Amino acid sequence: MKPVHRAPTIAVTKERRAAETRVAATPETVKKLIASGFSVVVEAGSGTTASFQDADYAAAGATLAKTAKEAIGKADILFKVRAPVDEEIAALKAGAIVVATLNPHQDKDALQALAAKNATAFAMEFVPRITRAQVMDVLSSQANLAGYRAVIEAAEAYGKAIPMMMTAAGTVAAAKVFIMGVGVAGLQAIATARRLGAVVTATDVRPATKEQVESLGAKFLAVEDEEFKNAQTAGGYAKEMSPEYQAKQAELVSSHIAKQDIVITTALIPGRPAPKLVSAEQVATMKPGSILVDLAVEQGGNVVGAKLGEVAVTANGAKILGIPNLPGRVAADASALYARNLMAFAGLFLDKDGAFAPDYEDEILKAALVTQGGKITRPELTS
Ligand code: NAI
Repeated sequence: MKPVHRAPTIAVTKERRAAETRVAATPETVKKLIASGFSVVVEAGSGTTASFQDADYAAAGATLAKTAKEAIGKADILFKVRAPVDEEIAALKAGAIVVATLNPHQDKDALQALAAKNATAFAMEFVPRITRAQVMDVLSSQANLAGYRAVIEAAEAYGKAIPMMMTAAGTVAAAKVFIMGVGVAGLQAIATARRLGAVVTATDVRPATKEQVESLGAKFLAVEDEEFKNAQTAGGYAKEMSPEYQAKQAELVSSHIAKQDIVITTALIPGRPAPKLVSAEQVATMKPGSILVDLAVEQGGNVVGAKLGEVAVTANGAKILGIPNLPGRVAADASALYARNLMAFAGLFLDKDGAFAPDYEDEILKAALVTQGGKITRPELTS
């Protein structure tokens, strides 16, 4: 006979950080979490901004709570998109688990508050990119939608059409779109811009991206020297490039940027500020009506002049869009993917008999753990 265990309770509450529209569980994941041995309590209204209704959570088997305090007070585990706020942290049971994108390099206050409350907190950003953890990879699931949405935002702000059109009244030229940084977001931006009919070029410092760019029907542009050949770390990320490389890169892209209608930048280096890829001088060479979308704006920005939450209009009539939280503009899909990532992660809290017994030696839990036993567990996050 299968042993019977007490079902650990997962709480889901409304997102309380600025302008967050996503939610950490959907009716679909609630149903599956319950089937795998959890019970789930959802604060009323948690899914509204992502188009998920309370009645659907209830039909999936969740208990609805009137307030965050009521939901969290009963829970062994709290699921969030962003870090919980102080009132949510205060409501946590002793030793409760928190799973969220905690922005651990930048939001030290949240980490300290979670440690002070003796919470066991996991930052989903730190889930390693190993095969077994692909299904939990929130960076990929959200970056993919961000890349898509960046092109849609650019198309909306652009005063011309994207595809070439041949009409009786003359020809409309296809827009030229340049994608800088070809990780998950950049690849999806290339695919989206191609589907809209743009002429797409792209650049990255990792040689592996050349073939990926070309396989999507775009043209690759980069300084392909010795440093470029070694720019990818064993983990698959970019290294910070030397000032000499950056100067050569700037020179190469300068003449190119001047001819572009839309530039989308997505370049990031883990744990470092975003590299500056487009200077004010380069923006100044662009045509009036050109659009730049800086996806790295929350990490310091790739484009000089990009401002978080603002559209910066330059003297030559280009617009730099510094949109925060692009996945939040596709909230229903972003939530659906994120919720599945968290559901898979929660599977690591159960042993093979389905009992609530997180194995803190598991390499995924170990990598994502940021607070436990009253302390921040990674030294690089304490300073
Ligand atoms: P990211 O968000 O850290 O950075 C975005 C892109 O910016 C990267 O392609 C990076 O090379 C590029 N970049 C950095 N500095 C640059 C510069 N100076 N100029 C131009 N581009 C620059 O990257 P993301 O999206 O997280 O992907 C990183 C790698 O991880 C990729 O190889 C991706 O395929 C891989 N990956 C692996 C997964 C897995 O194995 N489970 C899942 C997702 C991604």
